[in-house]
Amino acid sequence: MVKHLPARVRGQVAEHVVRLKAEHAIIPGLAVVLVGEDPASQVYVRSKGKLTVEVGMHSVEHKLDVDTSEADLLAVIDQLNADAAIHGILVQLPLPNHLNEDLVISSISPAKDVDGFHISNVGLLGTGQKSMVPCTPLGCLMMLRDHFGSLSGCDAVVIGRSNIVGKPMAQLLLGDSCTVTIAHSRTKDLADVVRRADIVVAAVGRAEMVPGDWIKPGAVVIDVGINRIPAPEKGEGKMKLVGDVDYATCAEVAGAITPVPGGVGPMTIACLLANTLTATCRANGLPEPEGLTS
Ligand code: GUN
Repeated sequence: MVKHLPARVRGQVAEHVVRLKAEHAIIPGLAVVLVGEDPASQVYVRSKGKLTVEVGMHSVEHKLDVDTSEADLLAVIDQLNADAAIHGILVQLPLPNHLNEDLVISSISPAKDVDGFHISNVGLLGTGQKSMVPCTPLGCLMMLRDHFGSLSGCDAVVIGRSNIVGKPMAQLLLGDSCTVTIAHSRTKDLADVVRRADIVVAAVGRAEMVPGDWIKPGAVVIDVGINRIPAPEKGEGKMKLVGDVDYATCAEVAGAITPVPGGVGPMTIACLLANTLTATCRANGLPEPEGLTS
């Protein structure tokens, strides 16, 4: 289902970047801020930096000590807000506990908020207006549109109600005229709710919690989960990554399903680059690339 889509999106972004340079002498710039040394975050940030350069953009990384003060972090963000060569700012989450995530996100200029986490962008998305859209849900929407064409009238269940994935995912599906249910840890009869769905997006962070017998035959399953669990079959002490759905049993009944790793993750990064391009076009009053926003 997703094999070629991330590369296709990155290719479209790269083509647009070539035109921006040739016709307007503009190079989109993306700044990623990482506080601390969380190994998973370091892997993401490295991969984002590499792909940013690959599509022809300017990539900046700010790596700050784990005990960086809030004032120092806000000063870095202020400087990036004011930097005309930077069109997108991403502060890698989670932040260390002493830093207030809401405050940090609200200090990013909404126009450069390529994560779509700023309250202005959340409000714009919720009211169906032009916004920056969170990358993971945007990537899921692109995969679903690629598969179905139109999503109009589909029954969709989003499992998980986070600000990063669950809630914006539900808004996007609603925007494409799905009938949307947001399920969570207190949902009654979750199996029955999921069995009615043509589209299942799992984003709860619980390893392999959705079994194949919850899936309606032919439904499309998007697995946003990334969970590290012991893998004794690989040897003592070894770990592996699995999603929120039980891939083997769900794949037997689903019409299409995304694997973990390699499914949603590459789309998230492709959408980050797409958002950076969109932010660059908007900042310069230029037409936005088609098919790369919601
Ligand atoms: N950490 C895990 N996913 C994300 C994301 O999409 N954006 C940011 N900023 N941090 C993350």
